Amino acid sequence: MIPMVDLKGQYQTLKAEIEAGMAEAMENTAFILGPNVRAFEQEAAAYLGVKHAVGCASGTDALHLALVAAGIGPGDEVITTPFTFIATAEAIKYVGATPVFVDIDPATYNIDLTLAAAAITDKTRAIIPVHIFGQPVDMPNLMTLANEHDLIVVEDCAQSFGASVGGRMTSSYGFAGAHSFFPSKNLGCYGDGGMITTNDDQVAKHLQVLRNHGSWERYYHSEIGFNSRLDELQAIILRAKLKHIEEYNAGRRRVAHRYSTALAELPGCIPPAEDGVGVHVYHQYCFRTDKRDAIMAALQAEKIGCAIYYPVPLHQQEVFKAECAGLSLPHTEAVAADIMALPIFPEMTDAQVDEVLAVIRKAVLG
Ligand SMILES: Cc1ncc(COP(=O)(O)O)c(C=O)c1O
Repeated sequence: MIPMVDLKGQYQTLKAEIEAGMAEAMENTAFILGPNVRAFEQEAAAYLGVKHAVGCASGTDALHLALVAAGIGPGDEVITTPFTFIATAEAIKYVGATPVFVDIDPATYNIDLTLAAAAITDKTRAIIPVHIFGQPVDMPNLMTLANEHDLIVVEDCAQSFGASVGGRMTSSYGFAGAHSFFPSKNLGCYGDGGMITTNDDQVAKHLQVLRNHGSWERYYHSEIGFNSRLDELQAIILRAKLKHIEEYNAGRRRVAHRYSTALAELPGCIPPAEDGVGVHVYHQYCFRTDKRDAIMAALQAEKIGCAIYYPVPLHQQEVFKAECAGLSLPHTEAVAADIMALPIFPEMTDAQVDEVLAVIRKAVLG
């Protein structure tokens, strides 16, 4: 039995530190925007090489608050990828803007920048690149495109904490970067949590007000805001884990490279490409195969986790069917039809990886 993700190993090694932090917080009773949230924001900003980090309640909220702070609204078009979790597009809809889905590169699964350029109209205000599965989008080139057309860039870094490109971390490039600390993420807490990064002092101040009921001082409200704060107890967990993020991401890369080396030898299996531009942190290990059903059945029979991210691209989801009627995105559709994910977590042993590979080998070669 091998699960898709096993969070227990990390907890066991950090248990004493987390429990001591929790006990102290209970004694101090500073539960909302307390000292650990402030400290985590500073530590995360330093690690990511950004001026500011603003904790919030989830990755979805991080995207939403960033778009509100950017002033995106009705009548605006926002270019993004259809090959992502629904939250990317939900945030665009929350502010009343229109998502414009652009096809992906079938090797990296990330938005195709040439097609993104071709999708720009006089209504385009922003672009949301998603560093899918932890593979950074080519941000230097994306920023050149965005700057040429005066577009706001909000990076969806929900799956890419610690991934870098062009010598800088993802989330350090655009107007803002949106992070998720959902438990299974590269940096995950024990519930929901999120964070927005920015290099702009005014934007950071605005985000701090937006996440806290539009309030810069208790009971003084300058605008309609939100209740979207990173929880103090979650910040304690995140501070403990942040110290080890490089080691965690190195563990993911080790597992991924072991998978890729073996899968490259198997007929009908295409490992994920590393584009050579950025450092992939493998939030998920997803590969393409024309034997998906057989491989998944064999893994399930051995109680080995497997999944499909994402079976239905956003432009084909029920919720977007009417809005995207007639839209054909062939690379995205082809990838959704033959992609599958294997177990990956930093503590996964080489023996566990080999066990997964042995089952796949048998399913493919007979
Ligand atoms: C690409 C992407 N964007 C946004 C989100 C939303 O994050 P959260 O679940 O923290 O709201 C996720 C999380 O699953 C995600 O994978």
